[in-house]
Amino acid sequence: MSRKPLISGNWKMHLNHFEALKLVQELSYAVTIDDVEEVDISIHPPFTDIRTVQTVCESDRLPFHVGAQHCHFEAKGAFTGEIAPSMLAKLNVSYVIVGHSERREVFGETDEMANAKVKAILANEMIPIMCCGETLEEREAEQAEDKISGQVRDGLAGVSPEQVAGLVIAYEPIWAIGTGKTASAEDAQAMCAFVRATVADAFGAEAAEAVRIQYGGSVKPVNANELMTQPDIDGALVGGASLEAESFARIVQFRLSE
Ligand code: 13P
Repeated sequence: MSRKPLISGNWKMHLNHFEALKLVQELSYAVTIDDVEEVDISIHPPFTDIRTVQTVCESDRLPFHVGAQHCHFEAKGAFTGEIAPSMLAKLNVSYVIVGHSERREVFGETDEMANAKVKAILANEMIPIMCCGETLEEREAEQAEDKISGQVRDGLAGVSPEQVAGLVIAYEPIWAIGTGKTASAEDAQAMCAFVRATVADAFGAEAAEAVRIQYGGSVKPVNANELMTQPDIDGALVGGASLEAESFARIVQFRLSE
């Protein structure tokens, strides 16, 4: 089975809605129709930009899926500052990042919370991009596989194999995020293959064959091709390099830089 790669731009806490509009328009000039036949593209701006990005994507028929970086798992309630999945669905958001390491490390999100969010996102007919990844200490102590296995199993607990087949898992080693240190293509491949093997063990071979697994962590135009052409890597979750149209477009066009 061939899996269509998904290249996602996680803008994190960057760009107001005016800047977002400019970047999306620049991106629309830099990305071609051929590109989107080969890869899916999602952009994940801050919440305050989503309506603007949705409007320009729909009115100009731009080939980008609108994404979000986060949401709450409850449908509504007294949760000051939070956003419900249904609010994102109403903005035609397609993909929602769940359990990013920054949410886990800075805001104390747990696997149980990630699991509740995955279910809430699926219930609202959006696609979770569930993140997993180990710290440098865990890697050096040879605990990376245990950590990833736990995050994948606990984060997806109770989700059906059919639903797992349709979602996205992002493997992002924490030591490679925003540091300029990328996992070697071999290491990234080995860990993404391990994620797939974990999915096979927990949800069966069909789900494992279909689930898309992204690599994230200092993905740049210069390393995108060798990462993305690995057999178990089905795209990228891009932080810093997604904030400029040219570099993000060159990652989308990774096949041109062979
Ligand atoms: P960088 O690409 O800036 O390393 O960020 C990766 C990331 O965390 C994407 O979610």
